[in-house]
Amino acid sequence: MGWFKLFCFLGGFVFILLVQGQNQSGFISIDCGSPANSNYSDASTGINYISDAAFIDTGISQKISAIYKGSFQQQVWNLRSFPEGIRNCYNINITQGTKYLIRASFLYGNYDGQSKLPQFDIHLGVNMWDTVNITNVAISTVKELIHVPSETNLQVCLVNSGLGMPFISAIELRPLNSSTYVSNFGSLALFRRVDVGSGGAYRYPYDVYDRFWYPYSRNDWTNLSTEHTVTTTDNPYKIPSVVMSTASTPKNVSAPLELSWYTQKATSEYHIYMHFSEVVKLEANQSRSFSITINGEHWYGPFTPEYLYTITVYSRSILEIAQKYDILISKIENSTLPPIINAIEIYSGIDLSQSGTYKQDVDAVTNIKATYALQRNWDGDPCLPRAYSWAGLNCSYDSTKPSRVTTLNLSSSGLTGVISTNISNLVMLQYLDLSNNSLTGSVPDFLSQLQYLRVLNLEKNQLTGIVPTGLIEKSKNNSLLLSVDANLYVCGLGSCKNKNNVVVPIVASVVGLLIFSLIVAAVLWGHRRKQKDENKAESNIQTMTTESLESIQRQFTFADLIRITNNFERILGKGGFGNVYHGYINDTQVAVKVLSLSSAQGYQQFQAEVKLLMRVHHRNLTTLVGYCYEGTNMGLVYEYMANGDLDAHLSGKNTNILSWETRLNIAMDAAQGLEYLHYGCKPPIIHRDVKTTNILLNENLQAKLADFGLSKIFPTDGDTQVSTLSHVAGTPGYLDPEYAITYKLTEKSDVYSFGIVLLKIITGRPVIERSHENTHISQWVRIMLDKGDIQNIVDPRLHGNFNANSAWKAIEIAMVCVSSTTTKRPPMSEVVVKLKECLTSELAEKEDESNYSVEMVNMNMITELNTHQQGNLS
Ligand SMILES: *[C@@H]1O[C@H](CO)[C@@H](O)[C@H](O)[C@H]1NC(C)=O
Ligand SMILES: *[C@@H]1O[C@H](CO)[C@@H](O)[C@H](O)[C@H]1NC(C)=O
Ligand SMILES: *[C@@H]1O[C@H](CO)[C@@H](O)[C@H](O)[C@H]1NC(C)=O
Ligand SMILES: *[C@@H]1O[C@H](CO)[C@@H](O)[C@H](O)[C@H]1NC(C)=O
Ligand SMILES: *[C@@H]1O[C@H](CO)[C@@H](O)[C@H](O)[C@H]1NC(C)=O
Ligand SMILES: *[C@@H]1O[C@H](CO)[C@@H](O)[C@H](O)[C@H]1NC(C)=O
Ligand SMILES: *[C@@H]1O[C@H](CO)[C@@H](O)[C@H](O)[C@H]1NC(C)=O
Ligand SMILES: *[C@@H]1O[C@H](CO)[C@@H](O)[C@H](O)[C@H]1NC(C)=O
Ligand SMILES: *[C@@H]1O[C@H](CO)[C@@H](O)[C@H](O)[C@H]1NC(C)=O
Ligand SMILES: *[C@@H]1O[C@H](CO)[C@@H](O)[C@H](O)[C@H]1NC(C)=O
Repeated sequence: MGWFKLFCFLGGFVFILLVQGQNQSGFISIDCGSPANSNYSDASTGINYISDAAFIDTGISQKISAIYKGSFQQQVWNLRSFPEGIRNCYNINITQGTKYLIRASFLYGNYDGQSKLPQFDIHLGVNMWDTVNITNVAISTVKELIHVPSETNLQVCLVNSGLGMPFISAIELRPLNSSTYVSNFGSLALFRRVDVGSGGAYRYPYDVYDRFWYPYSRNDWTNLSTEHTVTTTDNPYKIPSVVMSTASTPKNVSAPLELSWYTQKATSEYHIYMHFSEVVKLEANQSRSFSITINGEHWYGPFTPEYLYTITVYSRSILEIAQKYDILISKIENSTLPPIINAIEIYSGIDLSQSGTYKQDVDAVTNIKATYALQRNWDGDPCLPRAYSWAGLNCSYDSTKPSRVTTLNLSSSGLTGVISTNISNLVMLQYLDLSNNSLTGSVPDFLSQLQYLRVLNLEKNQLTGIVPTGLIEKSKNNSLLLSVDANLYVCGLGSCKNKNNVVVPIVASVVGLLIFSLIVAAVLWGHRRKQKDENKAESNIQTMTTESLESIQRQFTFADLIRITNNFERILGKGGFGNVYHGYINDTQVAVKVLSLSSAQGYQQFQAEVKLLMRVHHRNLTTLVGYCYEGTNMGLVYEYMANGDLDAHLSGKNTNILSWETRLNIAMDAAQGLEYLHYGCKPPIIHRDVKTTNILLNENLQAKLADFGLSKIFPTDGDTQVSTLSHVAGTPGYLDPEYAITYKLTEKSDVYSFGIVLLKIITGRPVIERSHENTHISQWVRIMLDKGDIQNIVDPRLHGNFNANSAWKAIEIAMVCVSSTTTKRPPMSEVVVKLKECLTSELAEKEDESNYSVEMVNMNMITELNTHQQGNLS
């Protein structure tokens, strides 16, 4: 028995190039493991192979051992192996609805030097295709399917079943004529395809569909052949002439041609395609006619093959299931010649009809993976097969409908940036966990549109702003379990919660006004007091109205200011809007700014703006305690900052040098304050005058931004007068050059100014060097960078006591912030994230007490900076 010897090799093909009238239209020929972006035309077939790198992002490129190369075609010299992940998938764009011959080839070739033959599974999308059992180091295994994909892309997945590391050598797709290989069953998996009586193996360009034809002959058969061309006109199977021109006939002229095989799997159901052509010019008194039976049942005939013309005999329906199949091709009574056969193909039916997860869900999670650059083995279909569904997802499984994603758990996944809008496309989502990441921005409104959402966990992120009312409503009526604890500042849930779960801004401060006689900033109160107010805030939120706001006034008379400052006894500094004096309210120190500008606004507007500012609370913004408005006597009362402004600490006169770590902390504080103004306040507040003198330090050297919002209280008349501009809406050197030209004010103007502040923090240099040709600090740093002189950019007073990496990062951040075009400047949220990384690397370095030297800064970093300067910080 066993008439089918195993022909599983990709060597030994016979080739004559330049077969006329054919091209590789629609061929997809992928050489797995060949270098990315490479392509070549195979020397023996002329087929153009391309690298697989564009179709997969996992696995490693490998080469078979050189000793096996010689007898194989180039497409199996390289391979891709998959040491990581259970399932790794190729994603190949195809023409939807086309019938394809899909072929996967595997040649182990001892690529890993282990001489261990693996066994693994291959899937087509969510359907099991076959088990690949590598049985010989130097024999290639070929799996072939005839299949009509229902999607626009095709996933070929290698699945590790615990019996060795999966790999793949080549993937080839060939479009077929859709009227061929029609099956009632579904798709077809190749069992055997042989060219009877042939001396060699053939494929493209002989075969326009690039089917592999392996020679087959037997001792009890005689070879027949013809020199003439066997035509295939009108026969859509287009069996090559070279295949059809050889045939066999039994040596015993009265015996039948007999073929038989045992089924591999109990359920295998076979399709047979037999190709006949007469190759002998018969005499007038000769005839060749025969009938075909399968397992004793008549199948086809009697039948006479045509001379030099291919006739294909097949049946659309499958053969009855049996353990063993016997095909007999027997001459009929009056035939003078024995039967003949030229070529035969046997396929087993395979059900590849299970559809994947709902397309919109697949696209959404795929985009989420890309957006956050998730380093997860998220490959293939998200939900199916169930055993391989993606970690962090749960799905609905209903045999009558496509699977849907119902759970997305990306907790502790290192997510940065904002909450991706792609989540809104997961409309069946019930459970969403994004906790313990570094997500920034606000809680998006689209989350409230997810009608099945029952659990939403956003804890432990860097989120800011107001929770959409839709979510709050759901949370209130208990249809949603919502958690936003431990974010920067998230407001709306009756109170605002910051990292330490201390209720601070908006409402708390308003309630605080009730006991205003104390005139103490909420932040300075004792802990017990705070607790009490928290409860008040919670219970009062419903009843708090504009009217009650109006009735509370944190207003001082000018006489109050005189008393508080002890007749303006001690001056703390001179600001853009007037002098700042030291004062006491009861025992609490305050800073009183006496405004020397005549306001263009009336009392109503001034009061409205000031009240707005009094509601802005953040640990990195100086708290506005109260105000005075008496004609031209105007004043603002702030919390007192014991350590003055940053500028004084950085100036050459100061002997107490701020350490590198302190500087980074200060930069971080200022950045967070600015981020809150931009994203935590509605409408956003643009500071307009970010500079080192406006960054104040408290007794712990914690930094807070001062003077925010003042440009709104004192708007310059249309911002047209340059003199006013330099005075009020910015300081020379810190002023965004683009704003100075266009007068178009955006948050990015503050980002520019912040960049200058950061440069000053890093270098300790004045913003404009008066002694030279008025060199601007950013020009100076750029010159140093161009020279590669990074070492000397950092403040020499630190004597090299800083971590080079974190210094480098800080310079990088600053330089992107001061990009001349606004679009290149990152948003403050990104700056905060980058500074945090910077601080982390500084602290990490500190911990292992290793070297602080600058020597590791090398030229590679310059290239890095240059590329970063083109775009954003990412
Ligand atoms: C290749 O063949 C297809 C169909 O047979 C034809 O449409 C196409 O023009 C051919 N391309 C070339 C480059 O010959
Ligand atoms: C093959 O590579 C060359 C450059 O090496 C490129 O121009 C050509 O487009 C590539 N062909 C394909 C089909 O990728
Ligand atoms: C596949 O198609 C998608 C969508 O049409 C496209 O974005 C992607 O780049 C394509 N992939 C390749 C490898 O051509
Ligand atoms: C794989 O091949 C080996 C060697 O021929 C054989 O022993 C083993 O049973 C095969 N496994 C399967 C699952 O066919
Ligand atoms: C038929 O031809 C093949 C290839 O040339 C050869 O290997 C085989 O022995 C031949 N068979 C007979 C019966 O001559
Ligand atoms: C496919 O085969 C049918 C039947 O022979 C033929 O009519 C049709 O033109 C073929 N299609 C192509 C694209 O070659
Ligand atoms: C030839 O085949 C016939 C029919 O199968 C059989 O009866 C006969 O014994 C065979 N002759 C030889 C020499 O094998
Ligand atoms: C057929 O005819 C040829 C002469 O053309 C003759 O030699 C041969 O014996 C005949 N064969 C049969 C079976 O009649
Ligand atoms: C042989 O017999 C079949 C009927 O069984 C008949 O149709 C055919 O014409 C006959 N052929 C010859 C050459 O006598
Ligand atoms: C997700 O599925 C796993 C396994 O079935 C289960 O343990 C887990 O509780 C499910 N999670 C949710 C949120 O449904």
